[in-house]
Amino acid sequence: MIDFISDTVTHPTRQMRDAMYEAAVGDDVYGEDPTVNRLEAVAAKRMGKNAACFMPSGTMANLTAILAHCARGYEVLVGDESDIYHYEAGGPSVVGGVVFHPVRTQPDGCLAIEDLKASFRDPLDFQCARAGLICLENPHCHSGGRVLPLSYLQEAHALAKSRNIPVHMDGARIFNAALALGVSPAEVASFADSLQFCLSKNLAAPIGSMVVGDTGFVDETRRLRKMLGGGMRQVGVLAAAGLVALDTMVDRLSEDHRRARLLAEAIARLPDIQVNLDEVQTNMVFFRITGSRFTWQTFLAELARHGVRMCELGYGRIRAVIHYQINDDDIEATIDTFKKILE
Ligand SMILES: Cc1ncc(COP(=O)(O)O)c(C=O)c1O
Repeated sequence: MIDFISDTVTHPTRQMRDAMYEAAVGDDVYGEDPTVNRLEAVAAKRMGKNAACFMPSGTMANLTAILAHCARGYEVLVGDESDIYHYEAGGPSVVGGVVFHPVRTQPDGCLAIEDLKASFRDPLDFQCARAGLICLENPHCHSGGRVLPLSYLQEAHALAKSRNIPVHMDGARIFNAALALGVSPAEVASFADSLQFCLSKNLAAPIGSMVVGDTGFVDETRRLRKMLGGGMRQVGVLAAAGLVALDTMVDRLSEDHRRARLLAEAIARLPDIQVNLDEVQTNMVFFRITGSRFTWQTFLAELARHGVRMCELGYGRIRAVIHYQINDDDIEATIDTFKKILE
């Protein structure tokens, strides 16, 4: 099976498993795990922030960040097509009494500055919750893995500052964004007060995300992590894989981008496929099945019958995510499968 369903399906590499076996450990709730401490220092430095905290998941990273920024009863301006809004079980509302204020997502993944401005309502006039935070997702998954431009980030950040509220970036795949923009991840992160990125997706670690930001903010996320039951003990065994991920898996992401482009351009030439090539900026390819021969359901079933797994990700769009377990031969075989089915 060639598995394009997500980059979360990636397995830890041999080097990660060796590092996990050899990892020096301690009790991380006491701050005494040397491998976690090293990972946190490396992550903070890579993102140009003062501090970092190792989290079990991107969901907990986003949740603790939102709760650290936003008091109960405040609202978070969040994209209506974001992972935080759709796929994280409403944690900030359930756990922290934070109100989601969904903002329409533009086709390129941005939340229009005008829409953000309009979302700031006078709480006394409107008897509404006070705005406490803006969340941006970059790259933006539901928009095809598109990257938010630096000029946009700068504008959104300036707006937040003018309203005296912070920006949190869900940068689950921040290294893909930085690669596509041709800048360092720290430059992308500089337009956010806090950011979370995942080790367990395209970087192939078995688990883990990092929250980065100012020291006081990160200390608070650490306290909230404990409240949520995410305080881990000898977790250097997992942090060790994260360190290898940062060391060995970032530079190779350009391979995934190249292969995504290859796949997109090849299938764009086939009948009954609609791909917006401008959308293909990172490791994702979104496309639609047109014509009357297939629905997205029957096309996915046909792909699966030929050993290719993809998924639907909203409004009948099919998504393919390229990752390190997909090589050039797999891309070629997949293109051949598409041809076999469609030509
Ligand atoms: C953009 C984005 N943010 C956050 C998450 C949540 O990460 P996790 O699955 O580690 O909780 C995901 C997961 O796919 C994601 O794609």
